[in-house]
Amino acid sequence: MKTNILVLYLLISSIALAQPHSKRYVPETDPLVLQKLEQWQDLKFGLLMHWGPYSQWGVVESWSICSEDVPWCRRSMDDYCEYKRQYENLKTTFNPTNFDPDRWARAAKAAGVKYVVFTTKHHDGFCMFDTKTTDYKITGPGCPFSSGPRANVTKEIFDAFRKQGLWTGAYFSKPDWHSEYYWWPYFATPDRNVNYSIEKHPDRWQKFVEFTHEQVLELMSDYGPVDILWLDGGWVQKRSKEEILKNPGARLQNQDIMLDELVQKARAKQPGLIVVDRAVHGKNQNYLTPENRIPDQVILDPWESCIVSGGGWSYTPNAVYKLGRELVHTLVDIVAKGGNLLLNIGPGPDGTWADDAYDRLQKIGDWLAVNGEAIYGTRPVEPYLAGRLRFTQKSEALYAVYLAAESEEQPPATITLPNLNSADGARIRMLGVDADLSYKKSDNGLVVAIPQNVQNQPPCHYAWTLKISR
Ligand code: GLC
Repeated sequence: MKTNILVLYLLISSIALAQPHSKRYVPETDPLVLQKLEQWQDLKFGLLMHWGPYSQWGVVESWSICSEDVPWCRRSMDDYCEYKRQYENLKTTFNPTNFDPDRWARAAKAAGVKYVVFTTKHHDGFCMFDTKTTDYKITGPGCPFSSGPRANVTKEIFDAFRKQGLWTGAYFSKPDWHSEYYWWPYFATPDRNVNYSIEKHPDRWQKFVEFTHEQVLELMSDYGPVDILWLDGGWVQKRSKEEILKNPGARLQNQDIMLDELVQKARAKQPGLIVVDRAVHGKNQNYLTPENRIPDQVILDPWESCIVSGGGWSYTPNAVYKLGRELVHTLVDIVAKGGNLLLNIGPGPDGTWADDAYDRLQKIGDWLAVNGEAIYGTRPVEPYLAGRLRFTQKSEALYAVYLAAESEEQPPATITLPNLNSADGARIRMLGVDADLSYKKSDNGLVVAIPQNVQNQPPCHYAWTLKISR
């Protein structure tokens, strides 16, 4: 049955999407966090950066020192100990002298990016900030970049992006493969997990908890206003005795880093802080984070897809970047399904982005300059998607974004809105075109005519937006 969603929506303009939260999501109760989450859901487009000494080798960030028999843990050497020694030694040659965070921030802002999430520490434990807890850091002795004025790169990045009006988020790995309190050098390291029995060595684990709290609180204290704490490494989590006993083969442990307490302390410094304890069911996962994929359906809980723009998460030599069309469609599809896009760029070892990264950002920015109204601040609306169309809504308007097919350089002569069978005098326009479009009812929905001149000279590439309003 067709519904006239325009009429429905315009009549009940404060309509709430009264669908229940999914079982995967535990709603937040702190009013400040709720308020911030609502604002975050308006932002739609963030930038993720994976950057560290590993970028010099162009390997998969951190993973090559992890002894799991999976493709992303591959090493170029048989001798694990020697490999790890050389990997850790990457600190002594990491010297990204062309690091120019202002240029990154300006490009991101021009692209319509509204927040940045930066790898302050990945699983290998190398700190891209000036922590007091370890020397394994960019500002540490032996790292050539440590003597420069921009050595504390997390601070430089956060300051530069904030200056452009963007929000900041700290990616922080809960597991730390450099800390002797997580990977005790006394034992071998068979996999990604803590390599000793926490039950037998509670004091060592306690030290790890303190170390983690100290690092996170440094980030929350010395780096200005931080909006998001993005915690990766979901295998570091609390587990009950029953769960551990039920899965004897999995050798699970209760890797409890006292996160509830840490979050409380972090929010005392950063009121309203959004915390994303990725992939860990519970109240510390303020939004869900599907990885490198777009969910098939709308999700009404807050969520964000992190997606690479080219290569892997971290710098990949000769990375092939996704094309502008695919990136724009990805953003639109995600937003229509209620999510945000967190697009990843891996800076190179010298501290620069690939030309293609700038090019793709500009292409997205050009599209958003025309169509941003249908993206920012919107919420999903039924039927969310239909064929090439994606729907969003905001205030008194409904937006239908037509995703062009690969060979389609111009909008078609007509676009049919299948969910509308009458528009009761509504105005229909194409964003970027200063004229009302004519439309007529049909059995298949409302048929909107795109004038010849608009077809010949469309306002943008890749996707065209119809705005339906009073
Ligand atoms: C995966 C990867 C990790 C990366 C993250 C980004 O968890 O293993 O290296 O940082 O995705 O989303």
